[in-house]
Amino acid sequence: MHIILSKQSLSPNVTRLDVRAPRIAEIKKPGQFVIVRSNKGHERIPLTIADADPENGTIALVIQAVGKTTRELVALAVSDSIRDVSGPLGNPTELIDSGRALCVGGGVGTAVVHPIAKALHERGVEVTSVIGARSKDWIIFKDELMKCGETISCTDDGSAGRKGFVTDAARQRLESGGIDIVYAVGPVPMMRAVAEMTRPFGVRTIVSLNPVMVDGTGMCGGCRVDVGGETKFACVEGPEFDGHKVDFEMLADRLKTYHEFERHADSCADGKCLIRR
Ligand code: NAD
Ligand code: FES
Repeated sequence: MHIILSKQSLSPNVTRLDVRAPRIAEIKKPGQFVIVRSNKGHERIPLTIADADPENGTIALVIQAVGKTTRELVALAVSDSIRDVSGPLGNPTELIDSGRALCVGGGVGTAVVHPIAKALHERGVEVTSVIGARSKDWIIFKDELMKCGETISCTDDGSAGRKGFVTDAARQRLESGGIDIVYAVGPVPMMRAVAEMTRPFGVRTIVSLNPVMVDGTGMCGGCRVDVGGETKFACVEGPEFDGHKVDFEMLADRLKTYHEFERHADSCADGKCLIRR
């Protein structure tokens, strides 16, 4: 059992839980994730390790409440426990040792960008972060990223920072030259747009994919994605891949596969089951 030591609301539907998981906190690397099951028989969901404190034996999980399972998780209180936290899973981020990196985070994906930017900064890489959200209240991890280097915030409605998508600010930064690598994490259309934007510049672009995952160990095939014409299992061969090679259309299609089941789970939770018996 993994006790929740602190809980913080980061935006209207994003919550941070700091959870006791000493072994994971000690060995995790940027880019890795855990698979969490709140209780016996509950759905298993992959969550990025947004931060870790090895001394206190805690990891930070950032959860966007979008379905039945994520809503159950964010309803947990401090001193409640999560039954299973498996990990760290996946391959660590490919980090450069020197030079300049551009880290682009969209919405809740900014929580995934944070450990990458932090590790790059600790190695002496010059980091610029561009983070985006629909409006002011939805910006997350800004203070943490500012500790890693220049940080440009963008909002769709212009209520904070620059008005517009992250791609607008990221393009400007790229055009000013000197960027050796781009890391982009966020909604699929955002990662696709960033990859298309960086392609003509020839700048290596790493994206973190978020397909449906079940076992997280390469056994079920649920997380398969197409990268450079080859099938890859994101849980064991990713979750990060070369953004210029990812088939984003297939990823978006596969993410839609379970929408009907999710709607069903939601309706049952509300006592209004959609399935006619
Ligand atoms: P959102 O839809 O509010 O978008 C956040 C920001 O991304 C926007 O403000 C904008 O700057 C940028 N963006 C969105 N669409 C864009 C486009 N077409 N072109 C350029 N920029 C664009 O984000 P949200 O609601 O926080 O994100 C939810 C999605 O992110 C979910 O689908 C979730 O599955 C996904 N997600 C992905 C990862 C990952 O590892 N890739 C991690 C967490 C969440
Ligand atoms: Fe089952 Fe990746 S989650 S193979």
